[in-house]
Amino acid sequence: KTTADLGDVRGKRVLVRSDLNVPLDGETITDDGRIRASLPTISALADAGARVVVCAHLGRPKGAPDPQYSLAPVASRLGELLGAPVAFATDTVGESARAVVDGLADGQVALLENLRFNAGETSKDEAERGAFADELAALADAYVSDGFGVVHRAQASVYDIATRLPAAMGCLVRAEIDVLQRLTRDPERPYAVVLGGAKVSDKLGVIDNLLGTADRLLIGGGMVFTFLKAQGHEVGTSLLEQDQLATVSEYLERAQRDGVEIVLPTDVVAATAFSADADHEVVAADAIPADRMGLDIGPESARLFADKLADCRTVFWNGPMGAFEMAPYAAGTEAVARALVEATKGGALTVVGGGDSAAAVRQLGFADEDFGHISTGGGASLEYLEGKSLPGIAVFDQAQEG
Ligand code: 3PG
Repeated sequence: KTTADLGDVRGKRVLVRSDLNVPLDGETITDDGRIRASLPTISALADAGARVVVCAHLGRPKGAPDPQYSLAPVASRLGELLGAPVAFATDTVGESARAVVDGLADGQVALLENLRFNAGETSKDEAERGAFADELAALADAYVSDGFGVVHRAQASVYDIATRLPAAMGCLVRAEIDVLQRLTRDPERPYAVVLGGAKVSDKLGVIDNLLGTADRLLIGGGMVFTFLKAQGHEVGTSLLEQDQLATVSEYLERAQRDGVEIVLPTDVVAATAFSADADHEVVAADAIPADRMGLDIGPESARLFADKLADCRTVFWNGPMGAFEMAPYAAGTEAVARALVEATKGGALTVVGGGDSAAAVRQLGFADEDFGHISTGGGASLEYLEGKSLPGIAVFDQAQEG
């Protein structure tokens, strides 16, 4: 269902669940990509005369108010980007929220305080979650799901609320699903997936699934050392998930058997400590000194990865190739980003998945337009590619069936 299915929204209170979980340095938003991505749905509803009540989470507070996770800075930024004031409620479903919603005129926008200041939002207890969803529902006449980054969460504002109000998917969620469907349903080949980031254990499900759909898997970041170790190489003091070695070995065997090419770095930047000032050098990936840790893929690997992406028609990328926040270890991530930009220019569909990866490419100076699509969902896009049923999407399928 789309917002058009909600009929005439003029004068109606429409609750929009957005993903405004942006990185903050104190009260300064360091990447406002998710706020920008939420604008089309909010603006369209406001332009149609709805009284728009936006709700969202920030970070992982423990079910009670915690000032460091207040959405107040997000309300200001949202107002700047919309070019209209955003009324901010200092609670989520209490007195302030009710007063702010009651005070909205047609076409105006409000933002409620962090959903996760309420234990009911993330509760595993259905009744507790349901009670909170009831309180949220009392603030609105209709609900729009537009927080793609949270559709993999069975939470009150994502799942339960959609069963309590006339509900529709917003344009961000629909756009994200459209692109990810192109990756899962008959992608143009060759189809390569670049995976990085610290932990292989976060990516097991998706690797498992990609071994059946992708032609090439390029692996970097902290997780690659578990692959190198599984191949019998010493990895010094690099990140290593000993308990995943057997699974990774099985993936390597399966890839070989099924003709999926797994591309690992041939050299790495190895440092004496996790620090920008640490002594570092480029070493062969199979000769990492015992007292050094790999913090980026090396220049030869960067060229190899770029080569492997050059002829691809579809590329999905999640996770940095190294500790890119520190200049000496940013080159690998930058090289992969450049290779995606080139592939995009050549007509390939390129998708950057994840809040962190999106923030990384922006921090390195790339623009959103350089890529085919920058997904706002990290965990959500990975779970989608894993083929899992995502509660925030499934709830609409259930409604359609029922
Ligand atoms: C994200 O940052 O991936 C989303 O906002 C979801 O946040 P969560 O992992 O805390 O549920």
